[in-house]
Amino acid sequence: MARPLVSRFIAGDSLEAALPVVRELVQDRYVSLDHLGEFTTDDSIVRDAVTLYTDVLDKLADDGIADRVELSVKLSSLGSALTRDAFPATLAAAQEICAAADAAGTCVTVDMEGAGTTDLTLSVVRELRRDFPKTGLVLQAHLRRTESDCREIANSGTRVRLCKGAYQHPADAVYSTREEVRESFRRCLSILVSSDTYPMVATHDPRLIDFAAGLAARTKCGRGDFEYQMFYGIRPAEQVRLAAEGAKVRVYVPFGTEWYPYFMRRLAEHPSNLFFLLRGEGPA
Ligand code: FDA
Repeated sequence: MARPLVSRFIAGDSLEAALPVVRELVQDRYVSLDHLGEFTTDDSIVRDAVTLYTDVLDKLADDGIADRVELSVKLSSLGSALTRDAFPATLAAAQEICAAADAAGTCVTVDMEGAGTTDLTLSVVRELRRDFPKTGLVLQAHLRRTESDCREIANSGTRVRLCKGAYQHPADAVYSTREEVRESFRRCLSILVSSDTYPMVATHDPRLIDFAAGLAARTKCGRGDFEYQMFYGIRPAEQVRLAAEGAKVRVYVPFGTEWYPYFMRRLAEHPSNLFFLLRGEGPA
């Protein structure tokens, strides 16, 4: 019953199924490719994920599109739900993927996950950036700490994806209203834009996209100084419009069979999708 809606958000069960989508998107946009999977505790599945990412990179290089496609990687897909004990193994797996991406002429952004993972994720990215300085990190504007994290990394030259945040955190760690989260997003983006970071504005929210466009114009940010990022299947017409206006737009494209948690986060963000789900349709 969920299939039409799932296929709106997920590019395919396999890389072969996702590649035509990626080839089409890179005609006017950029892509961040995510192999679905999270909270892996089995070493052999981690090995499979590393092998899969290196295969992906080989295919992108063969196609001559590796420079328009980066990878998004969740550390919880690389072992043991981000505990301190798992740190060395998770870091080693992430280093292997970053090395393969670097050799193919592209890079990795490390997704940010839920409660208790922020500091560990930031320290893994800090380690990765020693050898692979283009490795990007994600900051979640709904967290009260994020403005201070933005100031801390302001002069590190990091690629930073700023999003609202899709995961649960303790109530006292997050802003509670939608407008407070937007205000935090605006403050954080203003810090990033006036620093030497490379901001990646990950939102579909028209008010924040307008704010980013105004900020870029006021601070004379050019096409190469920042990018917009949106999910595959969400506001595609807006993606095309921004790209046609000369903005750099990257589409986050998930693929694979482990789609359930990703799909449920998209449903939760936009409950009207449930209506389409119950009717067995993909929404307009
Ligand atoms: P909001 O949810 O208010 O949506 C604005 C408008 O966009 C809606 O009114 C609707 O028109 C459309 N829309 C948004 N979501 C929709 C949906 N599911 N179905 C249909 N329409 C929808 N989070 C995180 O915690 N860690 C991460 O690493 C990332 N990475 C990431 C990468 C990229 C490229 C994006 C775009 C987002 C993330 N996120 C994320 C998710 C992010 O934190 C946030 O949960 C979602 O982007 C939804 O928030 P918006 O800012 O889009 O606003």
